[in-house]
Amino acid sequence: MPTNDAQRTEELLRELEQANSQLLQSEKLAAIGQLAAGVAHEINNPIGYVFSNLKTLADYVRDLLQIIDASDRVASLEELQAVKQRLDYGYIREDVQALINESEEGIERVKSIITALKDFSHIEEDDFATADLHRGLDTTLNLVNNELKYKAEVVKQYGELPEIECLPSQINQVALNLLTNAAQSIEGHGRITLRTGCDATHAWFEVEDTGHGITAEHRERLFDPFFTTKPVGEGTGLGLALSWSIVQKHGGRIEVASEPGQGSRFRVWLPLHQSPNVQPESESR
Ligand SMILES: Nc1ncnc2c1ncn2[C@@H]1O[C@H](COP(=O)(O)OP(=O)(O)O)[C@@H](O)[C@H]1O
Ligand SMILES: [Mg+2]
Repeated sequence: MPTNDAQRTEELLRELEQANSQLLQSEKLAAIGQLAAGVAHEINNPIGYVFSNLKTLADYVRDLLQIIDASDRVASLEELQAVKQRLDYGYIREDVQALINESEEGIERVKSIITALKDFSHIEEDDFATADLHRGLDTTLNLVNNELKYKAEVVKQYGELPEIECLPSQINQVALNLLTNAAQSIEGHGRITLRTGCDATHAWFEVEDTGHGITAEHRERLFDPFFTTKPVGEGTGLGLALSWSIVQKHGGRIEVASEPGQGSRFRVWLPLHQSPNVQPESESR
């Protein structure tokens, strides 16, 4: 009988583990979906005006060609000037440069988003690599900026950091979750501060918000899978659970400080180097 029990327990544990990894997977998918929507929105705007500028530029080119063709045909300079006037040459001249500048900016914006996306697309790569934490944070900021900018002013206070050994895209995912939570905690308009620093063995980054804060009662359950105080559809309660497991995989830890009504601060500590056999730190949350 004890053997049977032990077998059953083992089986249950296995099922639980599987369910857990499925949940984390679904949180990742949700985050990717959210990301995709943000990216689509962010790209849509520049593509829209670049496209419309291109149409206007096509009209201008047609008019300019008309003027050049006329120069072969007209009998007098006055006649050519009349054509130029009729086609509003003076205005075209001014507007062309503005349209080109604006279009270039738009394409630059799209390019930077695509670069950021490329960083994120390595999310499933599981190899530790030496990476610049600031670059990862900037990449993540760039991607969520669309959601953040309406909620908060984002302030960066970066310290001096060496490169750290980490799973870069997964750390981006942690930053994404913390930034999203920070934005969601703010009613109306607030401030989100992104700081970094390090000591001899660890680097840290933190996300501080001026949101509604966390009560002592909720504080205990933050990292529990499914713990959410958000309405259905907005919160899955898996963001911090996923972040926790990623940080644990690095042998790091997450510190939380919060004052209800004032705001919250989530600080992620990551070892600068991975020891060959990573032992997750004990239950310090
Ligand atoms: N910056 C924050 N300010 C206030 N509450 C927070 C913050 N971050 C997380 N929380 C609380 O922790 C809960 C769990 O967060 P998370 O695991 O990301 O799930 P979700 O965001 O889907 O609810 C949130 O519902 C919220 O109550
Ligand atoms: Mg969340």
